[in-house]
Amino acid sequence: MSERPLVLLLSGVNLNLLGERDPAVYGTATLADHVATATAAAHAHGLALEHLQTNHEGVLVDAIQGARGRCAAIVINPGAFTHYAWSLHDALDAFAGPIIELHLSDPKAREPWRHLSVVEPVATETIAGKGGDGYRLAIEAVAARLGA
Ligand code: DQA
Repeated sequence: MSERPLVLLLSGVNLNLLGERDPAVYGTATLADHVATATAAAHAHGLALEHLQTNHEGVLVDAIQGARGRCAAIVINPGAFTHYAWSLHDALDAFAGPIIELHLSDPKAREPWRHLSVVEPVATETIAGKGGDGYRLAIEAVAARLGA
C-alpha cells in the first residue's frame, strides 16, 4: 500500500488558548477539537495529517522548512504572526505544495492592524471567517488541489 500524502497543519501563537480565549470571536471549541475535525476530513480523503502548535515564530519556520519534500501540503493558521512575521512568508515561499491560509475569524473585517496578511501573497488559498468549519474546508481545499 502506498503511503498517504501528508498534510501539515500548523497553529501559531495563542491558538493553544482556543476554547477559553475570546469565545465571542473564536467560539468555544478547543484546538484539539479543530485538529480532530481536520484529521477526520483528511482521513476521509485518504490523506494523513500531522499537527503542530507553537507560540514561537522560529519553531514555525523550522516546521515549514522541514515540510519541504516530506509533506504534500500545508494548512496554516499563524494567529497574530499572520500580520507581521515575514519569516513565515519567506519560508512558505520555499515550499512547493499547496498552502492554505486559515483563520477562524475574518481578520479583514476586524481591527485595521489585522488587515495585512504577510502569508496571503504566498498562500494558494485563504479560508477565513468560517469558524471551526474552516478546518474541514481547508482540508477539502487541499484534497481538491492534490486530486485526493
Ligand atoms: C486568527 C486571526 C488573527 O488576527 C488573530 O491574531 C488570531 C487568530 C483567526 O484564526 O481568526 O490569533 O488567526
